[in-house]
Amino acid sequence: MMSSLHLTCGWLQQLLVVLMRLCLTFAGPLQPLDGTECTAKTPASYILVFTGHWSPQAFPKQYPLFRPPAQWSKLIAVSHNRHFRLWEEGAPASAGVQNFAELGVTVELMKEAKEARKKRMVGAMYRTAGIPNGIGHSSTEMLMQPRSSLVSLMVKMIPSPDWFVGVDSLNLCNGNEWKEEVTIDLQPYDAGTDSGFTFSSPNFPTSPPENITKITSQMPNHPANSFYYPRLKELPPIASIKITRQSRSPARQTPMSNHILPNSISPQRFSATPLDCEVSLWSSWGLCLGPCSRGGVRHRTRYILLRPANAGTPCPELEEQAECVPHSCMKRQ
Ligand SMILES: *[C@@H]1O[C@H](CO)[C@@H](O)[C@H](O)[C@H]1NC(C)=O
Repeated sequence: MMSSLHLTCGWLQQLLVVLMRLCLTFAGPLQPLDGTECTAKTPASYILVFTGHWSPQAFPKQYPLFRPPAQWSKLIAVSHNRHFRLWEEGAPASAGVQNFAELGVTVELMKEAKEARKKRMVGAMYRTAGIPNGIGHSSTEMLMQPRSSLVSLMVKMIPSPDWFVGVDSLNLCNGNEWKEEVTIDLQPYDAGTDSGFTFSSPNFPTSPPENITKITSQMPNHPANSFYYPRLKELPPIASIKITRQSRSPARQTPMSNHILPNSISPQRFSATPLDCEVSLWSSWGLCLGPCSRGGVRHRTRYILLRPANAGTPCPELEEQAECVPHSCMKRQ
């Protein structure tokens, strides 16, 4: 009797599980089952620290020194759920992303986020001050809610046509727990709306706009590109973020104005990127000069396109000469 009851119960349970699965499957987008929903019971407070590693040692090619020197715009961070995207690799840039990536203007981007907040897709928006240098920190506090546990952020590279670094939909929640600490290295992206190749290219709209793409040491595959380092497998990280959960005990709460940077934030990463010399093509040969009795000499020259740095290949000879017969001597006599 007992065992048969157990059997029946087990069978019923299995049926229930199958039915539940079916229900959940058909609930579709309303109840995403990709394991990304956050079931934490409380909000979590975080400190987000952005660090720029954009140094002339790591990125010697065309490193912007003047008007303006290399620097970072203000950082825009948004907490949101799966139905919002601040930006996405391989997708077109929104008007807000374009404005921000090209000009550092945040108005449109904020407007898009505010619209999404009305639809409960965005939780909150944060921003930090810019960094007037390629190397430096900026930080903000973030209060994360379980229903918008993803973080996306962008920082524009200045100067640049439409380049930025960022994070797309990083989940700070893991099931029913908030993550304690996340560190991510950042790579540059091209918003696809301006065709400039170099940091200081003049504005040159891409028409039609391309999608957002990652910039690598090989892509775009053009020697003029500011990040083109054919000898590197990948670019060194140009920036990084560290997101650290704050203690909830009020006694240890850091005041807003005093974001002490954790000591571990910046193990100074010196990666000197070798930059090979690049020279132009040879000029055409010059006039053959010299006395007919001893024959003549002619010259050709080339010039330096890119000076080597950090033990890159030195420049080759820039002038070459060759023997020749002076033109005036070639006359048959
Ligand atoms: C650009 O993004 C759109 C929308 O995501 C996509 O349909 C299109 O195929 C993409 N184009 C390219 C060239 O990847």
